[in-house]
Amino acid sequence: MDETSKFENLSYQILNEDYTEFDLSFKVIVVGNSAVGKTCLTTKATKNIFLDNHQSTIGFEFFSFMIKIENKIIKLQIWDTCGQETYRSLISNFYKTSSLAFIFYSITDRKSFEDIEKWVKELRINCSPDIKIFLIGNKNDLEEYRIISKLEGENLCKKYGFEYFKETSAKTGINAKEIFVKCAMILYKDFLNYYKNGRNNSMSSKSTYIDSKNKTKNETSILKKYSNGKKRGKKNNKCC
Ligand code: GTP
Repeated sequence: MDETSKFENLSYQILNEDYTEFDLSFKVIVVGNSAVGKTCLTTKATKNIFLDNHQSTIGFEFFSFMIKIENKIIKLQIWDTCGQETYRSLISNFYKTSSLAFIFYSITDRKSFEDIEKWVKELRINCSPDIKIFLIGNKNDLEEYRIISKLEGENLCKKYGFEYFKETSAKTGINAKEIFVKCAMILYKDFLNYYKNGRNNSMSSKSTYIDSKNKTKNETSILKKYSNGKKRGKKNNKCC
């Protein structure tokens, strides 16, 4: 377990991926062209392993990123999807209930950058209209093969109005955990605002929120609506 850190005034602690208890759970989806490093980066962030010569994903792979923010344990259910067209029809069902999407490209592959437009269209068609999107430029350890500058990534992020942009490396681990910490923070704050504003704002997140001590009557009905997990304190190996 890592030591407690601070992020935008909120304290957090990254937990082991096999930690089974949680208060709040969000589903996130990872998309992008084949071989840009989606699986390797997610594996690095969740298991601290770099997979050299990793084979293409078929359909999808599932990962958990566990983090404690303030006093709440949050589980990110990460659906890492395949970039290959052949298997895409298998995964269209996973889009609908995702709170946030990561679009990956490789900084060494112009086509993967140009195809971001295609991924945005796919997300717009299949996801909730208010889904949050993170743009990730992976393989930034391969500086000598760089084709996409950091500025191009930043500009594209602005152009589409994405929530966040970061360059990462699954090999060195740079920003691997950070992007999931940021993701958890944004979804957690979104969730808090949802309650603070009397739920007048639309919350994009289909979340599981279990707080047996503090829930009000109204919250109980929300819990019923969003709940798809088990109470904190009980073992939970279910992924969705
Ligand atoms: P699909 O499953 O086909 O969609 O591919 P993917 O995007 O999940 O790519 P994957 O994680 O399988 O990585 C493809 C190849 O790139 C593997 O051989 C990795 O070892 C390599 N790779 C992934 N990330 C990095 C990185 O950050 N740096 C370097 N140097 N290589 C990487």
